[in-house]
Amino acid sequence: TGFITLDSGFKNTGATKSSITFLDGEKGILKYRGYSIEQLAEKSTFLEVAYLLIYGNLPTQKQIEDFQHQISRHTLVHEDMKKFFDGFPSKSHPMGQLSSLVCSLSSFYPESLDPNQTKEEFDLTIIKLLGKMATIVSWIYKKSLGHPVIYPKNKYDYVTNFLHMTFGQRTEEVEIDEVVIDAMNKLLILHADHEQNCSTSTVRIVGSSDCNLYASISAGISALWGPLHGGANQAVIEMLEKIKNDGGDVDKWVNKAKDKNDSFRLMGFGHRVYKNFDPRAKIIKKACDDILEKLGINDPVLDIAKKLEEVALSDPYFVERKLYPNVDFYSGIIYRALGFPTEMFTVLFALGRLPGWIAQWKEMRENKEPIGRPRQVYVGENDRDFVPIEKR
Ligand code: CMC
Repeated sequence: TGFITLDSGFKNTGATKSSITFLDGEKGILKYRGYSIEQLAEKSTFLEVAYLLIYGNLPTQKQIEDFQHQISRHTLVHEDMKKFFDGFPSKSHPMGQLSSLVCSLSSFYPESLDPNQTKEEFDLTIIKLLGKMATIVSWIYKKSLGHPVIYPKNKYDYVTNFLHMTFGQRTEEVEIDEVVIDAMNKLLILHADHEQNCSTSTVRIVGSSDCNLYASISAGISALWGPLHGGANQAVIEMLEKIKNDGGDVDKWVNKAKDKNDSFRLMGFGHRVYKNFDPRAKIIKKACDDILEKLGINDPVLDIAKKLEEVALSDPYFVERKLYPNVDFYSGIIYRALGFPTEMFTVLFALGRLPGWIAQWKEMRENKEPIGRPRQVYVGENDRDFVPIEKR
């Protein structure tokens, strides 16, 4: 007390003790609950990883079946929410829609407002949020096309059901390719948690005031939207397309990013914590090559991305500052290959990050952490006498 340490951007301030995600930025290591991201991306499913993050251990067969079954009972979203949803302009940004819709769940499912929910009641809130989020994301996608929404089908697992609601048609049964289901699982797993980043810290700090889970997650979605955070995946593709349409002169754009008089940054490069290759980027780059090959897609934007990476990684500006490609650099190319429009990319990041946000919110509550309330160093005026308006 009395003495306040200033740490803008919390570059060196630990805000909590956590046992969810381990990250070593110098070595490029990422683990969820002790399991390496490489193993989880290769061998697990998104739902299993969600369970792991939220409850601390990989589920048994019975636990995962129960989890899937319960979620499938709560995938429907209150029909009255559609009236609210219908009011959004069809071209409004999907992230604004997502944040508002998730916050409005607190009005449609008000039992979540009680900060003293029992463990069973809180588990049900978690199940509802996981189930309804996938449905809401698919609604937003369908709206962008002007197509009717598709209702959830409980015979499918979590990710397959999401893809059905997204790419399915009312007029006919659509078969979703296994390659697509695998890629989606992998992408969601890689985004599932990343310790105390901007959106997760937001979720924890909002929840620390005893605010309900839905509103806390909605705040996290808003934090994720920014192009310096999750919004980078949209910004990367927009940048790559710009470079392509500008004649593909990668050097010119690298120089622009290095110019301190130019606010342009290479989107998808650099990270607050990783001073080495982002391990998620490595996995995504490989998955990107695989999926484009399997789907027989030749995306010229991928060539630009690879050239850009090569130039940036050998340029002293990027080497000295340890600016490596991050998770957002290649993910957009996969989302594009799967058929998602650019504006949906950050919404998909949010769907992946949801279990991490829930796990972090739950941990914060279980640790009985105090309300988050940073201090400041005041640098404003002191002791001014009020001057009547006619004398100013
Ligand atoms: N292009 C050009 N220069 C950069 C870049 C970049 N992408 N990123 C950092 N720098 C420079 C920056 O100008 C500064 O240079 P100097 O020391 O000469 O002033 C130095 O590198 C350190 O950068 P910083 O802004 O102090 O670092 P930070 O930890 O505050 O910011 C970051 C991290 C991720 C916001 C930043 O690297 C950035 O803006 N990257 C582009 C946006 C992006 O890809 N964001 C996604 C991050 S990963 C996923 C996620 O968080 O959701």
